[in-house]
Amino acid sequence: MTTPAVTSHPPAHLAALRADATRGLTAVPKALPPKWLYDAAGSALFEQIVRLPEYPYCRTEQALLTKFSPDIAATTRARSVVELGSGGPEKALALLDALAETVTTYAPVDVSSSALNLATTALSAACPQVAVQPRVADFTDPLDLDDLDGPRLVMLLGGTIGNLLPDERAQFLASLAPRLTHQDRLLLGVHLVTDPRVILPAYNDSAGVTAAFNRGVLHRINRELGADFDVDAFEHVAVWDAENEWLAMRLRARTAQTVRLDDPGIDVRFAAGEDLRTEVSAKFRPERLARELDAAGLELDMIWTDPDALVSLALAAPALRILPAA
Ligand code: SAH
Ligand code: TRP
Repeated sequence: MTTPAVTSHPPAHLAALRADATRGLTAVPKALPPKWLYDAAGSALFEQIVRLPEYPYCRTEQALLTKFSPDIAATTRARSVVELGSGGPEKALALLDALAETVTTYAPVDVSSSALNLATTALSAACPQVAVQPRVADFTDPLDLDDLDGPRLVMLLGGTIGNLLPDERAQFLASLAPRLTHQDRLLLGVHLVTDPRVILPAYNDSAGVTAAFNRGVLHRINRELGADFDVDAFEHVAVWDAENEWLAMRLRARTAQTVRLDDPGIDVRFAAGEDLRTEVSAKFRPERLARELDAAGLELDMIWTDPDALVSLALAAPALRILPAA
């Protein structure tokens, strides 16, 4: 099967970054959407993060997938696999392998064209019988699944659903649910609420890889929006927010400073100690997950959890609706 070339970022990407940076850097408190962490450098650093001894989530989820992919394959009999925020090829490989009898198409969706390129090359080589259809896109934008044969398995792994804020999450799930038929399934990989002493080091590793990943967004804004962030003047901070049950990643201004963005021509003032939030990583309890799915018109089919209760794989289906008699 030939591999279509991955197109580079659509021209819309710069306009979107400009709009998000302008809104986020003038907001109180300051915050940026996490997707801007993933340029080529960010995706390469992320591949290092998932191998860190302090970051248990990725290998735990991979082990769950290796163990339960046959069950997922038997339940879904999927012909198409759509992976949102796909990143590296390893998790898809486990699923495609288990689905070998039925699957014909794998459609990864990612904002990072470099990550998509690498994964497409690796998967096309490992699974030559599967057509790989990569798309550079924001998975929170309305997703067209119509050209993919059913049953379809839509996957969002790596705890990425927890990187959306609660209202973004609700909107994303509510927009996805009506696009799924009763044969289709959604596979979510979520991080679970645990002792913060397990969570915090995962986002503040001793080698400083996560700090470099976090600061990368400032380099990106410097490069793409002509800004003059003094990147070393910002400290990487990870805090556990017990009320929201999420880990927040921030960049803290070490001193008072003003940053210029040439495009769109704004000055952004930071007070000493002021934070810019770059990401949240929500941790879930099964009840909350079930509630959020239910609110979107989805219901839990099955859930698998590792022995340390760090990660769950949740398989969900569109809920049956009982219509009033006509
Ligand atoms: N699924 C992989 C990677 C997780 S990292 C795993 O489980 O290991 C999150 C991935 O999602 C990155 O590759 C990043 O580029 C992508 N991503 C983050 N936000 C996105 C968005 N809004 N739309 C599309 N891709 C996104
Ligand atoms: N989905 C991953 C998570 O929430 C993303 C991630 C891991 C991440 N480490 C990070 C994002 C550090 C930003 C910074 O765990």
